[in-house]
Amino acid sequence: MAQMSETNDRGTSGSLHDGPLSGASALVTGSSRGIGRAIALRLAKLGARVVICGRQRSALDETLGMLRDVNKNLDENLGASAHAQIADVSSASEVAALIAATEAAIGPISILVNNAGIGSFGPVQEQSEATWDTILDTNLKSVFLLSRAVAPGMIARGAGDIINISSLAGLNAFAGGAIYCASKWGLQGLTACMAEDLRAHGIRVSVVCPGSVATEFGGKLAANKPNALRAEDVAHAVETIVTQAPNSFISQLQIRPLRKA
Ligand SMILES: NC(=O)c1ccc[n+]([C@@H]2O[C@H](COP(=O)([O-])OP(=O)(O)OC[C@H]3O[C@@H](n4cnc5c(N)ncnc54)[C@H](OP(=O)(O)O)[C@@H]3O)[C@@H](O)[C@H]2O)c1
Repeated sequence: MAQMSETNDRGTSGSLHDGPLSGASALVTGSSRGIGRAIALRLAKLGARVVICGRQRSALDETLGMLRDVNKNLDENLGASAHAQIADVSSASEVAALIAATEAAIGPISILVNNAGIGSFGPVQEQSEATWDTILDTNLKSVFLLSRAVAPGMIARGAGDIINISSLAGLNAFAGGAIYCASKWGLQGLTACMAEDLRAHGIRVSVVCPGSVATEFGGKLAANKPNALRAEDVAHAVETIVTQAPNSFISQLQIRPLRKA
């Protein structure tokens, strides 16, 4: 487990960084690369203490190094304000350990970004039960497990942001998308219901639905598409959510590349 370490009620105390999220503590799942990495770096730049997680150590360490660089630039006297934890979010026991490690490192979680996700595509008749279980456990069950774990603390503090990274595939159907779309359509429903459960407690549960983003998720071809969205575009959407006025609730953002071709 690597360490960097700091927190805010809409998570904010303002003592460590001069950023809008100074004092906030953020856990971003699936943040060793791609969209999760961009979100983690953006939240750190805004002043939040950040915990990142993934299953593989090397990419996680690389992102942790980037977070440390961000923190150095924000405040050269800052010792440690980020932390990396190996965790498979599809496992209930690993989620429990992740939450405990996060709170030990950066304090109560004020921002949870459920970003970890995987895809598998092909005609439904060719899909296995194991694929169904892996995709649904990673993309949907994990969000239930993590949100359920952080909600009581957020309720006690009367504030918090839970941001779920879904997809336009959570709103649209396409051939070959049965299992992935099922996980993301499920995530849309889970998000909307959690939002209703928690909004009276001052907690915003929102969903970001990007179209195709140039990351390793879609393979090398997608990563090189000139007009595709960038991971930073999704990070910008997350920034918009966490920096909105306290009485405002952006519940859903859809993001498309401007040019289709
Ligand atoms: N790229 C797109 O076109 C696109 C479009 C719309 C929505 N999305 C959504 O955006 C999210 C991020 O996608 P991305 O494009 O950034 O994908 P990516 O580049 O493949 O990154 C996925 C991240 O999730 C981690 N991860 C995967 N399974 C995990 C698990 N069981 N436990 C913990 N971490 C796990 C990966 O690390 P390890 O492999 O080391 O665990 C990695 O850090 C996903 O939810 C995806 O569905 C992507």
